[in-house]
Amino acid sequence: MKYLYFVLIIPMVLISLCRPLAAASIINTKHNLSIHGPGSLTAVSEEQVCIFCHVPHYASPVDPLWNREVGAVSYNLYASSTLDARPGQPTGATRLCLSCHDGTIAIGMILSRPVPIPMSGGATTLPASSSSNLGTDLADDHPVSFPYTSSLAAQDGELRDPGFLPPAIHLEDGYIMQCTACHDPHKSPYGDFLVIDNSNSGLCRACHQQRGWASSSHALASEIALKGCNNCHNTHNSAVDERLLNFVPEEDNCFSCHDGSVSSSDIKVEFDKFYTHPLAATTGVHKPEENPLSANWHVECVDCHDPHRANGWSAEAPLVSGALAGVAGVNRSGVVIDEVRYEYEVCFRCHADNSFSRTVVINRQIEEVNERLRFDPVNPSYHPVMARGKNLNVPSLRPEYDVGSRIYCKDCHNSDNGSRSAGNGPDGVHGSIYPHILLARYEDDTYPLSYSESNYALCFRCHDPTVLLDRNRSSFPEHRNHVIGKRIPCFLCHDPHGVPLINGATTRENAHLINFNTDYFSGSYDSVGKSCDVSCHTGGSHDYLDAGP
Ligand code: HEC
Ligand code: HEC
Ligand code: HEC
Ligand code: HEC
Ligand code: HEC
Ligand code: HEC
Ligand code: HEC
Ligand code: HEC
Ligand code: HEC
Ligand code: HEC
Ligand code: HEC
Repeated sequence: MKYLYFVLIIPMVLISLCRPLAAASIINTKHNLSIHGPGSLTAVSEEQVCIFCHVPHYASPVDPLWNREVGAVSYNLYASSTLDARPGQPTGATRLCLSCHDGTIAIGMILSRPVPIPMSGGATTLPASSSSNLGTDLADDHPVSFPYTSSLAAQDGELRDPGFLPPAIHLEDGYIMQCTACHDPHKSPYGDFLVIDNSNSGLCRACHQQRGWASSSHALASEIALKGCNNCHNTHNSAVDERLLNFVPEEDNCFSCHDGSVSSSDIKVEFDKFYTHPLAATTGVHKPEENPLSANWHVECVDCHDPHRANGWSAEAPLVSGALAGVAGVNRSGVVIDEVRYEYEVCFRCHADNSFSRTVVINRQIEEVNERLRFDPVNPSYHPVMARGKNLNVPSLRPEYDVGSRIYCKDCHNSDNGSRSAGNGPDGVHGSIYPHILLARYEDDTYPLSYSESNYALCFRCHDPTVLLDRNRSSFPEHRNHVIGKRIPCFLCHDPHGVPLINGATTRENAHLINFNTDYFSGSYDSVGKSCDVSCHTGGSHDYLDAGP
């Protein structure tokens, strides 16, 4: 008797007490499956609303009085390489939801009746074509049925501690993540029975605290702000399971807007150029949690950009700009860091110690493909990417630069029509019509080459040719004689990056970015004696300051 009182009377009182409230709000939703319901799936004659889910007369063993067979189906579960939670087979309220939403059990099939409640049009289960039918494959749905605890939040690092969730979010038994964390089946003030309005990602952000999201371009850009996270992620029936994305080739998740359609930055057109970062060469190799030093050869948009953090802030070299904010990198010591501070640290993910690009493109006296070593400030000379330059006398520099200036990799490697090359396309190391993704022309494969200013447009952006080719003003008075007179391109003498000490570079032979090309001549440079002893010269070493004005 006492037992009956507990399982039957108390819940009945509870339900009847709540009835006016629950009833009032459920009535106008698709979960009013009675004959009076507003949806397309309704009963032929059944008047009761609650009966489709709750028992009116006796208790089922499951709380709170389920009136449904919770199936013995085995579900395919969500899995991903970045998931910390361990979702199990559905439990609790999730099983109740799935007793209709997996499409295997007739809507009208309830425990308290021997035969299913007849539905209009002879409907039984949710039709396979309905987007409300999640099927038994839950791998393409937001994970559920796992403990959402403080330690999970700490492990993930970007989840709100469950103790501080907004009151509208309800975890089963206080800690289990179920369908009911996001949906209240009794009312639908924001549509889709959501417990919080998901405009501007309101629901997602109640739990997910993606660092930098609030100030990111993807959160703020007016065209896409409303849809927020759901521009790229789907909560249910996602085309791609892992991380609930839209497209399998990683870059297509970005090209869907960055192809000139939604975003003003048409990045697609850049990657359609001849010289590009090879995004399409791999699919599925990139992992968000990868260690760049041991990852396999690949490059994707998300290696250089964090879609949750990218913003439009500009910066001065060497600091990283907003577009690259928050990505992991490799620092000047070759150590992996979670968040880059300097732009070159993004490039060193792949162009330093793991060197994805292993081919030496120009044969020089001292060869090295590890860009971290080439730009290292211990070297006798280098372009000032990692530190200010060594030379205090570079007369050819244009007024925007001086010997204390720092420059970016992207000051040379960039789009041929971005703002850095005075065009109106998007900036970035995406693609160019020039080899090596250079932002302007730089002839480095032909000798002899008749002089034209445009052959070295890249260098002349920063180095004024009228100074450089003037015997009285350049620190190398013989530039004019070599470059114009003897049709010798810069690459026969200079290395555009730097000459690594660790590989034997010396101040005597490799100051001033001197690293002779070995295809056409041999010999050595002496920066102290200001002379060159090379096979092109007849009669031994030539002293260039002696040559006089
Ligand atoms: C479509 C299925 C469905 C229908 C129809 C439904 N409920 Fe529920 N109800 C649930 C689920 C699921 C829970 C558990 C909620 C949770 O765990 O957050 C629940 C829980 C409850 C509870 C327990 C308190 C709570 O919120 O946890 C009460 C009371 C209740 N329902 C009343 C009603 C009444 C009254 C009706 C009819 C007017 C009704 N329900 C119709 C699915 C339904
Ligand atoms: C008794 C069967 C049944 C149960 C149990 C049930 N639903 Fe539904 N649900 C439906 C039907 C039927 C629809 C309408 C489908 C349609 O129109 O295609 C629906 C629609 C929905 C929708 C879409 C609403 C809209 O406005 O389009 C959501 C969201 C939803 N249910 C969530 C849940 C959740 C969460 C649970 C468990 C807490 C649940 N349902 C339990 C039958 C059920
Ligand atoms: C993390 C939050 C979250 C969880 C957990 C969640 N949903 Fe949803 N659900 C949403 C959102 C948001 C929508 C709105 C449409 C969308 O974004 O896909 C939605 C939409 C739906 C729809 C309508 C789909 C449509 O396109 O018509 C159904 C049905 C549904 N959910 C059922 C469920 C069921 C069943 C579960 C548990 C297995 C569940 N949801 C778990 C957030 C969630
Ligand atoms: C009630 C809290 C809650 C809400 C609301 C919520 N999530 Fe989640 N979500 C979680 C938890 C907890 C995990 C598991 C995280 C983990 O283990 O790394 C998760 C996992 C995910 C994952 C899979 C992550 C991975 O590493 O594979 C994605 C993607 C995701 N959520 C997107 C969303 C989106 C989009 C929304 C809004 C529609 C949303 N979530 C709303 C709690 C929530
Ligand atoms: C512009 C597209 C885009 C938007 C908008 C977006 N994401 Fe993501 N998200 C991605 C991509 C792409 C990945 C996978 C990144 C990778 O492979 O390196 C990802 C990964 C994730 C992950 C799993 C990895 C991790 O960081 O733990 C979660 C969780 C996630 N997103 C949640 C969200 C939430 C929540 C929002 C909204 C606040 C959101 N995302 C907005 C594209 C987006
Ligand atoms: C739903 C459309 C959409 C998708 C998908 C999308 N973006 Fe964007 N993205 C935008 C909009 C809009 C802006 C705002 C500035 C603009 O219009 O160019 C933007 C800005 C950016 C910025 C520049 C920051 C700035 O404001 O200068 C970067 C970097 C970026 N997106 C990278 C990505 C990457 C990487 C992906 C794929 C993971 C991606 N986007 C997917 C629409 C999108
Ligand atoms: C995730 C890996 C990755 C990152 C990060 C990366 N790259 Fe690359 N890069 C590659 C791959 C792979 C290639 C193609 C190399 C090949 O063809 O073998 C490439 C090619 C290049 C080339 C063309 C080389 C040539 O001879 O044509 C340049 C220049 C370049 N990257 C510069 C950069 C710069 C500057 C950055 C930083 C803003 C950067 N990369 C960041 C992977 C990366
Ligand atoms: C974005 C601007 C920029 C571009 C483009 C540029 N340089 Fe420089 N260059 C500098 C700066 C700044 C210095 C001064 C460094 C110093 O003080 O040591 C410099 C210094 C030099 C030096 C002297 C280095 C030394 O240690 O004596 C040489 C040689 C040189 N550049 C050659 C070139 C060549 C060749 C090109 C074309 C491939 C080029 N530069 C393109 C900015 C640039
Ligand atoms: C002053 C201009 C300039 C700067 C700054 C610059 N590069 Fe280059 N880079 C070049 C030129 C020119 C080439 C073409 C090869 C050559 O002529 O030696 C090149 C070639 C490359 C290559 C192809 C392989 C190789 O080593 O020749 C890669 C990869 C590369 N650069 C990456 C970078 C990275 C990463 C940075 C920044 C850390 C950077 N570059 C900074 C001018 C520059
Ligand atoms: C190898 C690294 C790398 C890859 C791969 C890469 N980007 Fe970029 N991206 C950059 C750099 C560097 C910038 C310039 C940032 C700046 O101007 O400070 C940039 C800039 C951008 C901008 C802002 C452009 C502007 O001028 O407003 C957008 C948008 C963008 N990238 C989107 C993408 C998308 C989408 C993809 C993939 C299809 C992608 N990027 C791939 C390095 C990369
Ligand atoms: C025959 C070898 C040779 C060629 C070819 C050559 N240089 Fe030089 N360059 C030198 C030497 C040697 C120095 C160092 C002079 C000194 O400071 O003693 C130098 C110095 C420089 C400097 C720093 C001094 C200054 O005047 O600002 C720049 C910049 C420079 N060269 C750029 C170029 C460019 C650009 C080209 C191609 C257009 C080029 N060089 C072609 C040998 C050469």
